[in-house]
Amino acid sequence: MTNINFTYLPGDGIGPEVGEAAMTVLTAVADKFGHDLNAEQHLVGGAAIDAGLKPLPDESFESARRTGAILLGAVGGPKWDHLKGEDRPELGSLLPLRKRLNLYANIRPCKPYPALIDKAPLKRKRLEGVDFVVMRELTGGIYFGDKGRDENGAYDECRYSVAEVERIAIKAFDLASTRRKKVTSVDKSNVLETSRLWRETVIEVAKDYPDVELEHLLVDAMTMHMLTRAQDFDVILTENMFGDILTDEASVLCGSMGVIPSASLSDGKMGMYEPIHGSAPDIAGQGKANPLAMILSASWMLRLSFGLTAESEAIERAVEAALDGGHVTGDLGGKLSTQAVGNWIASHVSG
Ligand code: NAD
Ligand code: IPM
Ligand code: MN
Repeated sequence: MTNINFTYLPGDGIGPEVGEAAMTVLTAVADKFGHDLNAEQHLVGGAAIDAGLKPLPDESFESARRTGAILLGAVGGPKWDHLKGEDRPELGSLLPLRKRLNLYANIRPCKPYPALIDKAPLKRKRLEGVDFVVMRELTGGIYFGDKGRDENGAYDECRYSVAEVERIAIKAFDLASTRRKKVTSVDKSNVLETSRLWRETVIEVAKDYPDVELEHLLVDAMTMHMLTRAQDFDVILTENMFGDILTDEASVLCGSMGVIPSASLSDGKMGMYEPIHGSAPDIAGQGKANPLAMILSASWMLRLSFGLTAESEAIERAVEAALDGGHVTGDLGGKLSTQAVGNWIASHVSG
């Protein structure tokens, strides 16, 4: 029996909706496999601001640090867009959680499910066999540089240290070693000095991995290659902002923003798990959000933070069964509500 003690941060918009569906699935898994499930639920983002607290209340952060396993819905939305800097949900909660917990390695998969290939806007031949992972650097770059306004305008500084590039490159090469042994490093080294350092450092790290092929692509070209030859990629290694943009693009290959989970990891077991999508204000409160990305994030938490592989696989099989049977939300052409998808997956796991 494992004590699945984690920090649950539903957040804003569709965050609590997809979160509830994922909690239903986690409860079913814990019952089925005989584990204790203990979710420490806390406020984060706009929900914390509305309660008169900081975007990242101390008790939310302390819980996250203590449990070391965090399941997060999404933060932000138009209601808080007038706020500035660290008063905003994104800059005041999500970014400090990542930075203060040193969650520098963000893993986002792109492997279109067979049942979804015909839902994507690209031709079947561009999608069959696609199976790559984006290794996104998450605690450096332009997100965390000095930013502000002066008399002429505004600025955002982009900095990377050699050590920051080295450690994320090592994660990418280690992962590629267990997969198809190819790393595609994406940068803008024809313009940016940080990208020149990125490329030089990645080339150095690659020397320790003679079995892994290394390719370099410029980010603008990469947006095109991802749509025309996605099958060629195995591990895509890139910096913070490029990884943010490229993974939303990758979601189009998978049929919806609502199916891609992510894990943000450090050197030990600490991990934060969240969908790549946001709070989707346009559909929030309507039961329309696809919960699969959140359910799969919960599955990754079980596997990576608690070592519960069979439990994680049971969820993944149930997700595939839901997709095969069309038990899905409207973004995938189905008719089910968010919670109905969660219930369907939970009963499949229990059955
Ligand atoms: P978004 O990802 O919230 O939504 C983009 C589009 O995808 C919308 O049309 C939305 O309806 C759709 N979508 C997203 N998730 C879906 C799901 N699970 N099921 C069905 N459709 C889904 O991006 P946005 O609209 O640019 O941002 C909205 C807010 O979310 C912003 O405040 C942004 O800062 C925040 N955001 C937060 C996170 C996070 O907390 N991790 C991530 C991205 C964006
Ligand atoms: C994501 C989001 C965040 C990011 C925002 C909300 C700060 O877009 O996790 O992809 O840019 O990292
Ligand atoms: Mn994003």
